[in-house]
Amino acid sequence: KRLVVLVSGSGTNLQALLDAIAASGAEAFGAEIVAVGADRDGIEGLARAERAGVPTFVRRIEDHGTREEWDAALTEAVAAWEPDLVVSAGFMKILGKEFLARFGGRIVNTHPALLPSFPGAHGVRDALAYGVKVTGCTVHFVDDGVDTGPIIAQRAVEIRDEDDESALHERIKEVERRLLVEVVGRLARHGHRIEGRKVVIQ
Ligand code: GRF
Repeated sequence: KRLVVLVSGSGTNLQALLDAIAASGAEAFGAEIVAVGADRDGIEGLARAERAGVPTFVRRIEDHGTREEWDAALTEAVAAWEPDLVVSAGFMKILGKEFLARFGGRIVNTHPALLPSFPGAHGVRDALAYGVKVTGCTVHFVDDGVDTGPIIAQRAVEIRDEDDESALHERIKEVERRLLVEVVGRLARHGHRIEGRKVVIQ
């Protein structure tokens, strides 16, 4: 299977995928990363792709007249790589209508909270502020809402009294990276279908 991974930041989830594929070989893993895309320049996520010899592309909202034009440009850039799956791994922009129409049902996102609790850009901060004692991470398919699509897998992480946002986020990310690698591998090797909100991995 062909994967395009979208990033906006440090790219440690991307790195976990790159490492897992390198360790087992693309054939045994079931997929290869054919390109990495970003919505901004100069981020570690792009540097990680370059170091691994994976082609990259950047489509910045600022370079397009409207959000719709950006959406069309991103869709075209991803489509050029003919992906079977698109993985949003810390991609901090909401994907547009055209993107969803083209790749809907094949876009996987990872979120640092136990959805449907604490969706949005500050899942870790919001869980801490609420005072929950257990949070975690969710890997799910993207639909047209914000972190509302069908859930594929989740893992729990306990919150400690001394946690601040960054300590907690780091512990979540350790679990999140392993979960993302596991889920993407299973989807790649077995295929899937979505029945309502239920994800069936064949
Ligand atoms: C992850 O926790 C992701 O869920 C969140 O941002 C983080 C990205 O980390 N939205 P990285 O760029 O993969 O290191």
